[in-house]
Amino acid sequence: MPFKNEERIFPRDYENRIFCEDCLTFMKGIPDGSVPLILTDPPYGIHYSNQFAKNPHTMLPGDDGIDYPAFARESYRILRMNSHAYFFTRFDCYPYHFQCLQEAGFTIKNCLVIEKGTLGGIGDLKGSYASSAEWVIFCQKGRRVFNSTTLLENRNKEGTMFHKGRQPSKRYKTRFSDCWFGSEYPKATHHSMWQKKNGIFHPTVKNEVCLQWLIQISSNPGDLVFDGFMGTGSTALAAIQSGRKFTGTEISEEYWKIAQDRIRKARKEMVSDEE
Ligand SMILES: C[S@@+](CC[C@H](N)C(=O)[O-])C[C@H]1O[C@@H](n2cnc3c(N)ncnc32)[C@H](O)[C@@H]1O
Repeated sequence: MPFKNEERIFPRDYENRIFCEDCLTFMKGIPDGSVPLILTDPPYGIHYSNQFAKNPHTMLPGDDGIDYPAFARESYRILRMNSHAYFFTRFDCYPYHFQCLQEAGFTIKNCLVIEKGTLGGIGDLKGSYASSAEWVIFCQKGRRVFNSTTLLENRNKEGTMFHKGRQPSKRYKTRFSDCWFGSEYPKATHHSMWQKKNGIFHPTVKNEVCLQWLIQISSNPGDLVFDGFMGTGSTALAAIQSGRKFTGTEISEEYWKIAQDRIRKARKEMVSDEE
């Protein structure tokens, strides 16, 4: 059964758990400025349901709209100073989400556009372009610079001199573009064949490798990553695989249970990899 308890102590009772409850109520228990990274994928408020797929998706809880201004304010409040926050969105929700996040206090740095990995088809299938990208609003509170990572190698050999008197080139990229398209970047979502193979059905399940990249760029090992809309637990998985802790909520018991299973399996795999 989902864990429910009003008397929680932060961070002890929050770390490495997903709670099956409402995100906004849950966030009230998190102290100001205590979360080093927010990486979240809220429902977009687009009334999406798909009856055409083999496993039809019903409308997600919250897809008739969450209280986004309140969510943005709470996110700003709980985020630690000099930290990053990522909010998945859609092109048509972007103006509203941007405005809410800005009014909450965030500095909005970029909108990342990431290849989905599968062509999305909703709405006017014959008269609109198939959606092939996910959008992510990248914000900061204060200022945080990116971690150097070993995610992506430069095309030129390490030590190449491009300009006289400048530092020679490094092996790994330190500056990423805001569009992640092509074979060197992870895709943002898992395609339907992956869902079928893994028995995980959710209309918007994200690829945890893509989330791992964001986590590694924007947090340190051992940091706590918050996602109030965990769905099948992809952010939690990405946190585990990156050596970070996670906390958050998922209101649907069906998806919450899938997330618990995935976390259990991920932990088992990590233990057997270490042995
Ligand atoms: C866009 S999906 C997230 C999918 C997730 N990224 C994944 O990879 O599985 C949003 C999720 O938020 C959940 N949700 C909606 N309203 C919520 C609320 N008030 N509190 C917590 N979760 C909520 C929905 O059930 C849905 O699974």
